[in-house]
Amino acid sequence: MLEKQKDELRVRSIKNGTVIDHITAGSALNVLKILGVKAGTRSIVSVVMNVPSKKLGSKAKDIVKIEDRELNSDEVDRIALIAPDATINIIRDYEVVQKSSVELHDKIENMVRCPNLNCISNTNEPVTSKFAVIYPLTLRCLYCERIIKNNITEHLI
Ligand code: CTP
Repeated sequence: MLEKQKDELRVRSIKNGTVIDHITAGSALNVLKILGVKAGTRSIVSVVMNVPSKKLGSKAKDIVKIEDRELNSDEVDRIALIAPDATINIIRDYEVVQKSSVELHDKIENMVRCPNLNCISNTNEPVTSKFAVIYPLTLRCLYCERIIKNNITEHLI
């Protein structure tokens, strides 16, 4: 069998849906969490982990394919937080009709819960959580200054 054919058999092309490619290796399961994919989900979902990536300088990457679903901008912004190199490919009738890179904004709102239980964003006040995004990837609460550096996924709303 030709090498290319072997590769294609790993996971087949999809007819309609979204392919999230170039996910930082190890983050595919967190992407599924963001998309709300869990036991009982009816969508057809394919996950490939730790395949070599040319774009990431032959480092490994993960890929998630979700059929018959196109992601909304909120989901894409959450993915940017955990997989900053990811590309979002919209597939219609087997063709990639749209390819975009995820983008980290300077400020994120209502996406991450502040770990400081005394923060005003965790009270009954009508206040949505807001964080400044600093590089290398760090979040700073705009109310109480609490920093989140690691395990951002654990704090996703
Ligand atoms: N893909 C798919 N089903 C299709 C079309 C594409 O599953 N009907 C997948 C491809 O396997 C690839 C991703 O969608 O993982 C993007 O496809 P494409 O743009 O054709 O691949 P590349 O050119 O390799 O993408 P990039 O330049 O972003 O690395």
